[in-house]
Amino acid sequence: MPNAVVVGMQWGDEGKGKIVDLLCPAFDGVVRYQGGDNAGHTVKFRDRHFALHLIPSGVLHPGTLCVLGNGMVIPPDSLFRELDGLTESGVDSSGRLFVSSRAHVLLEAHRQVDRAREAALEGGRIGTTARGIGPAYESKAARVGLRMCDLVAPGGEERLRVLLERLAADLAVLGGETVAIEEAVEACAGWIERLRPLVHDTSYLLNRWIDDGRSLLFEGAQGVLLDLDHGTYPYVTSSSSSAGGAATGSGVAPSRIDGVLGILKAYTTRVGAGPFVTELEDEVGKHLQDRGNELGTTTGRPRRCGWFDAVVARYSRMISGVDCIALTKLDVLDTLDEIKICVAYEIDGEERTDLPPTVEELARARPVYRTLPGWQSATVATSSFRGLPAEAQTYVAALEEAVGARVGILSTGPRREETIVRDLPDLERLIPGDLEEIR
Ligand code: GDP
Ligand code: IMO
Ligand code: MG
Repeated sequence: MPNAVVVGMQWGDEGKGKIVDLLCPAFDGVVRYQGGDNAGHTVKFRDRHFALHLIPSGVLHPGTLCVLGNGMVIPPDSLFRELDGLTESGVDSSGRLFVSSRAHVLLEAHRQVDRAREAALEGGRIGTTARGIGPAYESKAARVGLRMCDLVAPGGEERLRVLLERLAADLAVLGGETVAIEEAVEACAGWIERLRPLVHDTSYLLNRWIDDGRSLLFEGAQGVLLDLDHGTYPYVTSSSSSAGGAATGSGVAPSRIDGVLGILKAYTTRVGAGPFVTELEDEVGKHLQDRGNELGTTTGRPRRCGWFDAVVARYSRMISGVDCIALTKLDVLDTLDEIKICVAYEIDGEERTDLPPTVEELARARPVYRTLPGWQSATVATSSFRGLPAEAQTYVAALEEAVGARVGILSTGPRREETIVRDLPDLERLIPGDLEEIR
């Protein structure tokens, strides 16, 4: 049975939550493999609306197994808040939610360091979500992090104190607030009983499930361009948000993962600072922001908007080995009279189709556009690809050609029902069972 990765191919917020929720009925479990509550994944169906930050989007399907993998950094306070919110909404996850014993614990002091670092950067700010993500991964890389297994084990307090002292020293250098060490120790002690039944060796668990013939969906957070190694460094997050992270962040080897579904928005958005070659600071950009309701799910910040960037998407296809694409928010383009796709960059007079590694080159890059006619009619709730306006079909075909992969799923609205699933072998290969299961 296939195990597949869902990965964002831009700077996050491509609609991963919607697509994961849509695919869930075909899979047995969903695994988050990196990031923390910097993510905000929206799922809408009927009159219901959920924003998930730590818990896999599969949780809304009764019976779907949900795993928070070892590659994540998890603040227990946020986790409990999210679980309580789900319970209040009638979503029961008991017995099917598993937290990796190797996942790192994110503490309030990590958030304090995040805020202090950003404040110190002034003009050079990353524009983080202030959730403490960077500092939590720093603790992990510095080998002073506290893992879930350490927290729930006897003697965990000693490790916790070492970590807190270290964060307090970092904050002192930054001139930030002081760390309330005793309060933090007390908070951690208070979390242990609730965490203990959730914490498992999920590496063994996941591999056993695969041995038993179950299919898993790996739910990426953020996107390839925010990946610590492959993104627009230093304007990135601190985890491996490309498909490669699914293996290291879950304990499931690459040889057991069968394919990758890349999620692309029909245009481009970015929250926070950093290069954005196709950004539109005009009325078209404003139109995309308004019609696309482009406000951050986690921080409520307005998202910067621009035309579709095929240089970025082609790069992401390569880095994440994308087999097939889910294209979202096509409906947001419905009223435009013309639509542009950036097919190359012009840098210092030279036309280039590769993504340069430095922000300096990206800042000098000018987009080379291919202009296509708009369709100026509603695409929402169209049930088949052939039912789309001819110009919309042409836009999708042009995008497929520019990116080098087929679009198997088309989203024309935020709800489950507002989706077109095409009969493409590239998509069929990734979905266990029949495509009808997700239609
Ligand atoms: P994620 O982080 O990749 O899961 O994406 P977010 O949930 O942060 O942002 C995507 C936003 O677009 C959410 O508000 C979704 O409800 C919404 N959305 C997803 N697909 C579509 C679509 O096809 N059309 C429209 N109009 N909205 C969509
Ligand atoms: P989902 O999963 C969009 C961005 C932040 C900032 C940079 C670093 O919903 O797609 P961090 O707090 O991670 O250290 O911030 O990354 N960022 C996201 N942008 N969607 C996300 O998640 C993001 N998670 C982080 O805005 O630019
Ligand atoms: Mg999001």
